[in-house]
Amino acid sequence: MSYKKLIKAATDAKRYSYSPYSKFRVGAALLTNSGRIYTGCNIENSSFGLTICAERTALFKAISEGRKNFKALAISTDSKDYISPCGACRQVMMDLVGNIDVVLTKGNREHKILKLYDLLPHAFTPKNLTRN
Ligand code: THU
Repeated sequence: MSYKKLIKAATDAKRYSYSPYSKFRVGAALLTNSGRIYTGCNIENSSFGLTICAERTALFKAISEGRKNFKALAISTDSKDYISPCGACRQVMMDLVGNIDVVLTKGNREHKILKLYDLLPHAFTPKNLTRN
């Protein structure tokens, strides 16, 4: 399937990035199974560790509005390279979204699609919390 619209949504979401410290703008767009798109941007803080990434902003917006089933997440930055989600976002997504397509972009034209499970092999998951 084409993720053109999703990539455009991620690119547009970058415009709201609050990144005065890193100057690294990130936009994300999360597609639900029913075709809705939730967007997010990175939001930094003067206490640097409190920064939230674009991916988690989008995901928490969707979860907090009752969405549970997801198909894909696209990420857009201003970098010349493909940028993939940080480790913290991979872990958070692992618990909440299943093995979705992660759409990485480079510039305005190029993209590639990876699977979340390939981005975080041997993951710790909610299943690991069950006691036998
Ligand atoms: N950032 C994201 O929003 N997503 C990523 O996948 C990587 C990093 C943000 C966090 C911070 O605001 C800036 O990019 C530089 O690390």
